[in-house]
Amino acid sequence: MEIIKVQGLSKSFGTLRVLKNISFTINQGEVVAILGPSGSGKSTLLRCICHLELADGGSIALDGRDLVKDGVYAPAASLREICLKLGLVFQNFNLFPHFSVLRNITEAQVHVLHRSAEEAEQRARELLEKMGLQDKAAGYPDELSGGQQQRVSIARALALDPEVLFFDEPTSALDPELTGDILRVIRNLAAEKMTMVIVTHEIPFAREVADRVLFMDGGAFIEEGPAAEVIDKPRLERTKAFLARLNR
Ligand SMILES: Nc1ncnc2c1ncn2[C@@H]1O[C@H](COP(=O)(O)OP(=O)(O)OP(=O)(O)O)[C@@H](O)[C@H]1O
Ligand SMILES: [Mg+2]
Repeated sequence: MEIIKVQGLSKSFGTLRVLKNISFTINQGEVVAILGPSGSGKSTLLRCICHLELADGGSIALDGRDLVKDGVYAPAASLREICLKLGLVFQNFNLFPHFSVLRNITEAQVHVLHRSAEEAEQRARELLEKMGLQDKAAGYPDELSGGQQQRVSIARALALDPEVLFFDEPTSALDPELTGDILRVIRNLAAEKMTMVIVTHEIPFAREVADRVLFMDGGAFIEEGPAAEVIDKPRLERTKAFLARLNR
């Protein structure tokens, strides 16, 4: 079943066309990696889907609900409702430094979903346990390693019960040995059928974590397929050249 459907999405910054008429679908429970050179439009694509950036044209639907259809955005109330179902995890964690780990995870549950403090705390503690961070609830972000901070930010996103979780380079601010922690977390979520879209520059990570790879270049998807196929046996010269450069 398709959960995300993007059709003819386009976005320019001034005269720079960053997304060129992009169409693709993501199925429920799928883990998709988006690869591609710097500047190819990967972050802009995630930002448009999560409504942090406005598209110029095209359509984006989540679970059959239109966020934008043929360039026309849904009314504010439906937009808010749809966007709540889209979780986004950033490269630099973006935790609130002056809030405890627990409060980083409860804050939006209380203020956005209007859960009671008790309910939010219970959910936060469950998620911290799942992330192997149950003993860090009272700590502050700057007392945690990068890998731990990233797991808190994943817990924070999950606390809002998203239907799809987007990651923009979740491991690129981490020491290589910490990448494995995030890989495990993503694998566990995949086993629970969480739909995830992951932008990454780490090819081995993408190969291990993703079912499918979409390869972006110059604002368009130029090659896609099962992760092992696209990464081990790319068809296009541009994909081959990109992968060869990263493997050197
Ligand atoms: N707010 C903005 N204003 C103007 N140009 C922008 C803006 N955001 C992105 N761009 C431009 O759009 C293009 C695509 O940027 P984007 O961040 O989506 O690339 P990316 O594929 O995520 O790259 P990287 O792998 O380096 O993160 C780049 O040329 C970038 O300079
Ligand atoms: Mg980017």
